[in-house]
Amino acid sequence: MEPLRVGICGLGTVAQGVLDVLRRNARGIAQRAGREIAVVAVASRTPKPEVDLGGATFSTDVHALAARDDLDVVVELIGGEDTALSLVETALGNGTSVVTGNKAIVALHGEGLFALARANAAHLGFEAAVAGSIPIIATLTDALAGNEHDWLAGIINGTSNFILSAMAGEGQAFADALARAQELGYAEADPTFDVEGVDAAHKLTILAALAFDAGFHFEDVYVEGITQLTPDDIEYARQLGYCIKHIGLARRRPNGIEARVHPVLIPQEHLLASINDAMNAVLVHSNAAGDTLYAGAGAGALPTASAVVGDLINVA
Ligand code: HSE
Repeated sequence: MEPLRVGICGLGTVAQGVLDVLRRNARGIAQRAGREIAVVAVASRTPKPEVDLGGATFSTDVHALAARDDLDVVVELIGGEDTALSLVETALGNGTSVVTGNKAIVALHGEGLFALARANAAHLGFEAAVAGSIPIIATLTDALAGNEHDWLAGIINGTSNFILSAMAGEGQAFADALARAQELGYAEADPTFDVEGVDAAHKLTILAALAFDAGFHFEDVYVEGITQLTPDDIEYARQLGYCIKHIGLARRRPNGIEARVHPVLIPQEHLLASINDAMNAVLVHSNAAGDTLYAGAGAGALPTASAVVGDLINVA
């Protein structure tokens, strides 16, 4: 078969991870996809001549890349909302499939984007949008699709978990831990989205939409981040036998779906208490499967790239 022709918008941490995974696992990926996956073009507003593009052409015009009619898939990895949305709409509108890690646009514009994809017989893959390496989207849409879910709860922002772990474990200051999370490529371009709970709320919106067929209702999620927590809070919690985790929780109620993200006291012996650093975990309570728990790296180049490449193989 002809190779799957891919164009990537963005050349940040995750995009570089995708190029790396496609290169290092090329043979197995081609076997499992049934065809080679070829990145033929990359566009980024910030050129990075030091990055090996493996023969792909480079341009600074992300809009032109999304509008190309000779690509099978556009991978959107620039993050943010407005430009990313416009790129994804352009590609889907042309019938080009899209793979994205952008939780903001899926949470805020999911209904419209999926309708556009359907209308143009294109595929919209977004496994990388929630919980990095953890295949929670495929789990909810495929593996657990025979269940009704009562609730799900998770640690779904790696940056917040990294900061809380560093404050609790090493007594690190909030600002120092955040700076380190940024250096490691965990934090969003605007890290207030991480520490104020917005990123987790985007992800919870998506999980709730899939788990409860509830539609995408970001505006209805209660949102609280970790910025009000002090080292004293963490220490008092520890003395009482708890740790503090930033949790997203969605639960079926008789009159609708409850959805909230905020810091929670977790008993130190609870499974979620052992999820540290940039790890994420999602616990799903379903009426046939019972409790199932998924854990893995929630941010970072290769873990997020793993999800993007899985979506590319699906498209192929
Ligand atoms: N900023 C996000 C996080 C990246 O820290 O979880 C992965 O979505």
